[in-house]
Amino acid sequence: MRLLVIGASGQLGRALVEEAPEWDFEAMGTYESRPAASASPPLQHFHLDMTDAKEVESVFEKAKPDACVLAAAYTNVDGCETDKAMADRINVEGTRNVAEACKRRNCLFVFISSDYVFDGKKGPYSEEDEPNPINHYGRTKLEGEKIALGVKEHLVVRTTIVFDFREAKNFATRLAERLRAGEQVLVPVDQVGSPTWAPNLAEAICELISEKKRGTYHVVGRDLMNRFEFALTVARFFALDERLLKPVKTADLAQAARRPLKAGMKINKAKKELQTKLLGVKEALDEAEERGMLGKFAEQC
Ligand SMILES: NC(=O)c1ccc[n+]([C@@H]2O[C@H](COP(=O)([O-])OP(=O)(O)OC[C@H]3O[C@@H](n4cnc5c(N)ncnc54)[C@H](OP(=O)(O)O)[C@@H]3O)[C@@H](O)[C@H]2O)c1
Repeated sequence: MRLLVIGASGQLGRALVEEAPEWDFEAMGTYESRPAASASPPLQHFHLDMTDAKEVESVFEKAKPDACVLAAAYTNVDGCETDKAMADRINVEGTRNVAEACKRRNCLFVFISSDYVFDGKKGPYSEEDEPNPINHYGRTKLEGEKIALGVKEHLVVRTTIVFDFREAKNFATRLAERLRAGEQVLVPVDQVGSPTWAPNLAEAICELISEKKRGTYHVVGRDLMNRFEFALTVARFFALDERLLKPVKTADLAQAARRPLKAGMKINKAKKELQTKLLGVKEALDEAEERGMLGKFAEQC
């Protein structure tokens, strides 16, 4: 099985190329602006800007994948709100280019989506619930899902609050960084979701591919908690000063994009069909420590 991971320089993409050999997949990755982040030899590594249909075609010609996971996106939720044209170009047009390349070769297309396709009025959500995005990022992800459904061989994996302590850009890492610097951090108490450890998500995605599953799956960590509870768990694990965490309402943060508040996802389908155990936050932190995956925070716990 030749597996092309688009966005291998991102947190999920990196975890996927690391996990792939466990499933006997021959992984190849792409990066857009950060070639070094996932350069773990002997990985074959291509530059790709997925908004360029010709470059997508040329990478597929070289990689000849049997399956392609699209783990690349414009993931800055407020950025998507303030630059909708860029969000559309990357998350919709880019997705269409990759989907078309998959269609031409009958390659499995795995699209990574989000609980932000839901409005956050009555989460946690199951695969059967009706999407109704309330911000532009969510709208682009829903468009991406519709494009994926047009590819005969497809999987849509919805996830949320992805974290990995080896990566600089996620809620948990930024939080730990700021607490370590002695800064006060405002954390919303009214945003509920299911924090998901990237290597655990990558394992579940590889199993879905290996088991030839098709359709839509919710794959998230098994804890449903608000951001403040998540922040507290992280602070306590790394023995950081939890008094610096200040509970606030999402509205107080005056962010550009609205956030679905009562979000998170039900994982009954994934639990029933997969062997991969979906981890709670504390379990994920313990496993990250055991496997030496705490990055620069390792010395702190
Ligand atoms: N993070 C979350 O909490 C979360 C929650 C729900 C769903 N998701 C979804 O999960 C997937 C993975 O998220 P992540 O957190 O791992 O993302 P990430 O760390 O922000 O990485 C984004 C990846 O996209 C690549 N990329 C950006 N623009 C590109 C373009 N024009 N062409 C090709 N590649 C491009 C980046 O490449 P360079 O860095 O090399 O530029 C990077 O590899 C995304 O689809 C995201 O929407 C994430």
